[in-house]
Amino acid sequence: MKMFSVRLIFLILCIFFDGSLSKLERLEHPVTKSDGSLNILVVGDWGRQGCFNQSLVAHQMGIVGEQLDIDYVISVGDNFYDDGLKGDTDPAFEASFSHIYTHPSLQKQWYSVLGNHDYRGNVSAQLSHVLTQKDWRWFCRRSFVLCSGMVELFFVDTNPFVEQYFTDPEDHTYDWSNVLPRDRYISNLLHDLDLAMKKSRATWKFVVGHHGIKTAGEHGVTQELVDQLLPILEENKVDVYMNGHDHCLQHIGSDGGIQFLTSGGGSKAWRGVILPWDPKELKLYYDGQGFMSLHITHSQAKFIYYDISGNVLHQFTLSK
Ligand SMILES: *[C@@H]1O[C@H](CO)[C@@H](O)[C@H](O)[C@H]1NC(C)=O
Ligand SMILES: *[C@@H]1O[C@H](CO)[C@@H](O)[C@H](O)[C@H]1NC(C)=O
Repeated sequence: MKMFSVRLIFLILCIFFDGSLSKLERLEHPVTKSDGSLNILVVGDWGRQGCFNQSLVAHQMGIVGEQLDIDYVISVGDNFYDDGLKGDTDPAFEASFSHIYTHPSLQKQWYSVLGNHDYRGNVSAQLSHVLTQKDWRWFCRRSFVLCSGMVELFFVDTNPFVEQYFTDPEDHTYDWSNVLPRDRYISNLLHDLDLAMKKSRATWKFVVGHHGIKTAGEHGVTQELVDQLLPILEENKVDVYMNGHDHCLQHIGSDGGIQFLTSGGGSKAWRGVILPWDPKELKLYYDGQGFMSLHITHSQAKFIYYDISGNVLHQFTLSK
């Protein structure tokens, strides 16, 4: 029923927006609560067949998801370790997703981007409708726009920005089919994002990617995103950028500026690395497992960070 409605709305929107200049796929997740609010969970860096406490995080997400009566879940990438999926019949899909996030409250749509580990496998498998037929919750694209009442979420494929994946011979191999030529892929994506953001009339603009723009985690800032993506986010006054990649929970921000949130605690954590960062901006750095919740209304957006036991590590609210 839900799968059907999401698909139908998606089809209608595709027809509607076909004439627009931005080629980014757009879909809508309607707000269903009578007060018009929206509750979302955000998790990243998770698919390890339940290991490294993925199952415990999933259990806690279920409890919080029930308390909040969530509308959907966002995955910020690195969905399947170590090397993505081999194909659309790879049993890791069930072992790391369907058989793990089993709590009734998590039987909602999941909107996912890809991480660098996903690009080490077969990307088209993760984008395949075959997975959605196996588990209706699954929705993964490289980049897309999700409209939900007062909020518009811009999902961005950050992987092709990272120079090292293309130039370092010591690095892993990545599935760049349908990405090359890289320069054109990136310039089209930035152009489409900018257009979609300029057209947006949403109260809240949130951006989702895998790699960090501002982070004190072990991977450090992704300079290519600072140089190329951040100016577009600033120009269009987005409220929040959310990512994974660093296996931690983190909040970096200053009053009135973009808030940079990391939710990469879906499974393996405790790296023991934290890079220096201005303590006035670094509001939370938690090196362990966990996830985030978002509670959005027309006038306020509240963000809560939870550890593996459901303890609240940090929270903050933005107002309009
Ligand atoms: C899993 O969580 C338990 C309970 O918090 C903790 O004691 C243990 O160290 C964690 N294991 C890993 C691999 O992080
Ligand atoms: C990738 O997955 C797709 C869908 O499952 C499959 O058709 C294709 O053959 C796979 N490619 C490789 C190189 O295995």
